[in-house]
Amino acid sequence: MNRKKFIKTSFAMAALGLTSSSLFLESCTKSNPQPGNGTVNFTLDLSKPANSALNKSGGSVITHNIIVINTNGSFKALSDICTHQGCSVNYNKNSNNIICPCHGGAFDLNGSVLGGPPPSSLKKYSVTKSGNILTITG
Ligand code: FES
Repeated sequence: MNRKKFIKTSFAMAALGLTSSSLFLESCTKSNPQPGNGTVNFTLDLSKPANSALNKSGGSVITHNIIVINTNGSFKALSDICTHQGCSVNYNKNSNNIICPCHGGAFDLNGSVLGGPPPSSLKKYSVTKSGNILTITG
């Protein structure tokens, strides 16, 4: 391969690589939105057994990487992905806060860091209730 052909081929390969990776990244963000990176909009039917824990104060359900909590009849929804190293957090009914089991990070019910190594708050989502349907958006 001569120099001219090598340069031409290299530019063509580079352009193809950029185009392919751009398409790949775009399709990932559109088809698989994640809490913290994209938007969410889903519903939970409180009459279904899988969501029955939410019918009691202190009950919680984790779905779509979001933890939904019933706190005295109102609802909170937060990302369940710890901002430290990405472990799944859990609601602790006794302490009424969110705990990360990996390194002891703790968050309040607004997602703010209470202690431990997490560098930032959990993403918070809006919850509205209509009849038996919770709608989580954000
Ligand atoms: S991953 Fe949650 S505290 Fe480290």
